[in-house]
Amino acid sequence: MKAVARIPRTGLPPPLASSFPLQKSYNPVFVHILLLSDIHSNLEALDACLAAAPAHDLVVNLGDTVGYGANPNEVIARAQALGRIFVRGNHDRAVTGLMDLDDFNPAAGLATLWTRDQLTPANLDWLRSLPQGPIHLDELPGIQFVHGSALDEDEYIVSAHDAIAPLIANPVPVTFFGHTHLQGGFMLQGKIDEAYRPVYRTVGQSESSDWPLRKDKDCRYLINPGSVGQPRDGDWRAAFAMFDSEAWIVTFYRVPYNLRLAQEKILVANLPRRLATRLATGR
Ligand SMILES: [Fe+2]
Repeated sequence: MKAVARIPRTGLPPPLASSFPLQKSYNPVFVHILLLSDIHSNLEALDACLAAAPAHDLVVNLGDTVGYGANPNEVIARAQALGRIFVRGNHDRAVTGLMDLDDFNPAAGLATLWTRDQLTPANLDWLRSLPQGPIHLDELPGIQFVHGSALDEDEYIVSAHDAIAPLIANPVPVTFFGHTHLQGGFMLQGKIDEAYRPVYRTVGQSESSDWPLRKDKDCRYLINPGSVGQPRDGDWRAAFAMFDSEAWIVTFYRVPYNLRLAQEKILVANLPRRLATRLATGR
């Protein structure tokens, strides 16, 4: 089941043909890819995702490992142990001083300063060294990883309308992105833009939802696994996704986690109360 928004594209150039070969039977080294994004120092949510995630060959972290939550050092240790494929997020940059806080709301700014204070020098250095997207892997042709978009690492792709320019501009069939904390994606095929949101049956159980992708040459996708540590799509459960790079199926997941403990830690740390209460509503 999916929600579809069709937006007429007028006055825009036609999509470019893909420059990536889409063989039906190439043999990728990394078949099952675990996609994590926007963990935001929420250790309880990250642990719940890792416990629920099926076996995988590669972990890709789409950025914003820190910020908002109360366990930045612990979450960085987990993230480092998971692998080496990272894209930097705006909170990762802000915490290290690579960007100023002008665009942050007061709660985000306070959390950034608190996080900077908590982080070990080694973790600050590590965050500072994270690469800017897009990230491409030789083993995964036709796929790229970004935080905001391939055009602008700070861009918020919220609607199908937002997705049009990055989908047209990038001749890459599949782009995984984060930043918006909204699980789902967008597809461009010819003149049709579609927005996709996974539909779940419950509000409190572990669930998954498959989105089979088309391997057509003129099809392009933007896919967001959702936020591990601070979902904003009205679902409080931690979000992540798996990508089967052979079958071309994205499986979205939502998992409950120890919300109360994550909230208590935020309050004990004297971080803004709103950062704790918003976790309960996924907003
Ligand atoms: Fe984020």
